[in-house]
Amino acid sequence: MDGRDWNKFLFPYEQAVEELKVKFKTLRSELKSREEYSPIEFVTGRVKRISSILEKAKKLNVPLDEIESGIEDIAGIRIMCQFVEDIQRLAELIKQREDMTIVYCKDYVTNKKESGYRSYHIIIKYPVQTALGMKNVLAEIQIRTLAMNFWATIEHSLNYKYKDSLPEDVTRRLSKAAEAAYVLDQEMSSIRDEIMESQRAFEDNSNLVSKLLNDIQQLYFYHRVREAVYFQLKFNELWEAEDIWSLKQLAHSLDEAILKAKRMSDRRRK
Ligand code: GTP
Ligand code: MG
Repeated sequence: MDGRDWNKFLFPYEQAVEELKVKFKTLRSELKSREEYSPIEFVTGRVKRISSILEKAKKLNVPLDEIESGIEDIAGIRIMCQFVEDIQRLAELIKQREDMTIVYCKDYVTNKKESGYRSYHIIIKYPVQTALGMKNVLAEIQIRTLAMNFWATIEHSLNYKYKDSLPEDVTRRLSKAAEAAYVLDQEMSSIRDEIMESQRAFEDNSNLVSKLLNDIQQLYFYHRVREAVYFQLKFNELWEAEDIWSLKQLAHSLDEAILKAKRMSDRRRK
């Protein structure tokens, strides 16, 4: 292949990267508006540089006319997530898509690499429409948390600088940093559970409060003023004390009081 052929060769890969970036960014906004939460934080993509393709082909003994099938990450997409849980969710969403086919996955999240590297990789086959017709290209999607990305980015630049011969103490410290990134992800997950739990509890409590206040209004409607005042005072007291359990009991008593009031009013009307 001469220089001119390379540009043509890379064209479908450039198109694939551009299209995939748009698709995952769109997925992000769609999930955000549908579910108020997106497992995608941000998306990047790149086409491998010619020099890196040649280096990798040499390393893997891939003949130049078999590069398309022999090198799977000429087109590369990277999707960053906030939480480890988002990675599986996203992988599932990708598996369900009909515009790309999964070739295989590598789970370096559960099984981290010796370097300390963690990420979930999906190799896909992606059809691009070119001027010459449809062409399937391979692409690598890397899914990782912000912490995993932070670590991988720095480790990569150090390896680049030291050309695969990292001083031993740097390797050791990188390994410690990988452990710290792992702990950070775990901490964030547990905080996330707590935030979601407290959001749910907050939602429940606001519903309970508005139900109680509405029910007290109902008693006034049935002219049960004394009872209404009693429930209002009781409510004030329990609300002050943040006694959710007793507020729930109060809601039950209120239900019964309203039922009784309603029955009596119905009887009177007959
Ligand atoms: P490469 O020749 O590095 O592409 O490895 P591979 O073809 O055997 O596949 P693998 O799934 O191991 O790695 C694919 C890609 O994951 C790499 O191109 C990197 O982007 C990333 N990666 C894998 N291992 C590491 C690592 O130890 N450190 C960093 N920073 N990135 C890694
Ligand atoms: Mg690779």
